[in-house]
Amino acid sequence: MSDHNQVKITPMDYSKDRPTAENPLKIEDLTFRDGHQSLFATRGRTEDMIPVAEMMDEVGFWAVEMWGGATFDTMHRFLNEDPWERIRTLKRYMTKTPFSMLLRAQNLVGYRNYADDLARAFVERAAENGMDIFRTFDALNDYRNFETVVSVIKEYGKHFQGCICYSMTEPRMGGEVYNIDYYVSKAKDLEAMGADSICIKDMAGLIAPYDVYEIVKALKAAVSPPIHLHSHFTSGMASMSHLKAIEAGVDIIDTCMSPYAFRTSHPAVEPLVMALLGTNRDTGFDIKHLAKINVILEKEAMPKYKHLLDDSKVSIIDINVLLHQTPGGMLSNLVNQLREMDALHKIDDVYKELPRVRKELGQVPLVTPTSQIVGIQTVNNVLFDDEDERYKMITAQVKDLCYGLYGKTAVPIDPDVQKKALKGYERGEEPITCRPAEVLEPELEKAKEDVKDLAQDLDDIITYAIYPITGKRFLKWKYGHEDPPPEAKPRTLEEINAEDELVKLAKLGRLVKKVEKKAPPKTDALRTFSVFVNDEYFEVGVEEPGGSPIISYIQQMPVQPPVSAPAPAAAPAPPRPAAPAPPRPAAPAPPKPAAPAPPKPAEPAPALAAVEGTPLKAPMPGMIVKYQKQVGDAVSKGETMVILEAMKMENALTAPADGTVKAINFSSGDSVAKDDVLCVIE
Ligand code: CO
Repeated sequence: MSDHNQVKITPMDYSKDRPTAENPLKIEDLTFRDGHQSLFATRGRTEDMIPVAEMMDEVGFWAVEMWGGATFDTMHRFLNEDPWERIRTLKRYMTKTPFSMLLRAQNLVGYRNYADDLARAFVERAAENGMDIFRTFDALNDYRNFETVVSVIKEYGKHFQGCICYSMTEPRMGGEVYNIDYYVSKAKDLEAMGADSICIKDMAGLIAPYDVYEIVKALKAAVSPPIHLHSHFTSGMASMSHLKAIEAGVDIIDTCMSPYAFRTSHPAVEPLVMALLGTNRDTGFDIKHLAKINVILEKEAMPKYKHLLDDSKVSIIDINVLLHQTPGGMLSNLVNQLREMDALHKIDDVYKELPRVRKELGQVPLVTPTSQIVGIQTVNNVLFDDEDERYKMITAQVKDLCYGLYGKTAVPIDPDVQKKALKGYERGEEPITCRPAEVLEPELEKAKEDVKDLAQDLDDIITYAIYPITGKRFLKWKYGHEDPPPEAKPRTLEEINAEDELVKLAKLGRLVKKVEKKAPPKTDALRTFSVFVNDEYFEVGVEEPGGSPIISYIQQMPVQPPVSAPAPAAAPAPPRPAAPAPPRPAAPAPPKPAAPAPPKPAEPAPALAAVEGTPLKAPMPGMIVKYQKQVGDAVSKGETMVILEAMKMENALTAPADGTVKAINFSSGDSVAKDDVLCVIE
């Protein structure tokens, strides 16, 4: 290869007025979107972007990315900011640099495929509010999910950037699925759809320098739209990959301003500007101007967010990404879920099961939402399967995937897994092969009707349509029907300085430490007593460390529902549990013997574990989405009783036996712990 190094160095004056390079590298800045999304949970506020907005507009970026799914979600959910307003506000300060957004194709800025009427309205309103470049991706690289949004982007004369999600099955590019031919053929598909540019989207930082070199070379030879590289720093390879991509002739590269760079974010712009200085790919950026922006970001913005940075380890790279190809966010979710289940020791089983599940589910790329779908199903398999049966607990999202609701997978889904997943599936047992949105009913009119008393314009309606619960709550905040919670208010620099002072004092050992009594660990000496107070029965564990008895735990288990207010108890009050809180279920507090409560009408007592019959226990901690059955309903074994949401995935829990529902212990929206009895069948 004689032309492998296209970068030429020309001796020149390196001042800011240096001559324009022959083929300057274009840069898209991600500070206002992926930067704060990657480093501090997308909590960046518009007010912290404004102080540098005009200066950023002067840099000469090809585009500034400032909007996307996570920004839309976080702004209205946590920050009490109207996402649409951010586009209009920043546009007032940034008149020259095009704005770019990350669009989840038919998933828009949410987590499911929306109907075509909503998708059209969303893109129209984004364009009208000032969006210029629509970076569009689909988690399965199924470009049928692009069709509706792309037609609107084109109608509005905006820039359609098509993404290829970068994925691997081997330690390096290659293998049967994600090889060089795959990427070339995807790029050709995008060109045929009218892509104005093509982005290699490496969301997990997996792309290796020599692989990206090969891809960029191949794409430059195969298609004509400019080639753009988006690679996260996560694994530590991205700076090297950037340079190799530049040598291969990449047109545009994504970076962040240095305070918002590295770790799971992106390489910083400044070293790249310096590295290319005086070459034929010189960006032409004024490094001193960049330095001025950095000072403001560092001193005025970062202090408000640094508490959100993950400082759990010193290393700024994550080699798990290289070992297991699990994106950073996905890995921490898996670890959290295992920890909640007291099953962290099974992490190696999860690593082993993950490639198997991914392959069975069609070797999908691991990116939102497929990374979650594959990850949670893997954990379910590790925790609940046995030697005789796999996929014992299949999430609703895996069922949707098997049905074809997300689109076409890279390889066919394992037919046995698919058949099992679709048994009794509500939309049908036969998977679809058409474009997923074709089976979706229009939804915009219903959304309009739902919030006709609250929404003032189409933007409001769309916010609600995509986020029905949090969107509606936001509209109430926005129009003064409800007060936003105090934590939605921005933190001020004064508050931060005061906190920093406290931290300093603590580090010097000058803060008085609050002494907290911790419950001692239970030992073999623990003895269990049954205690009866009126109609209520308590199981109390007692043990003696050095003389005086200490109550280790207390669990209330009424034998039968109390029928009226308790009379002043003759028995001594049940001992208060020592911290921590008693195990669930959180039953009403034990009656106080001294103060007789005024007679209350008999309320049905919560039916608890003591009801006789076969209990259905929560196999994992989570939130009750809904019960499918009511007390008194007849059920047969295997029928869905409860939908439990864990880690954003829905799990259908089925009846453990034939019989009648005797008790239902929680309701929709309740959080439950592992092993809580959700209902009882007799
Ligand atoms: Co990204």
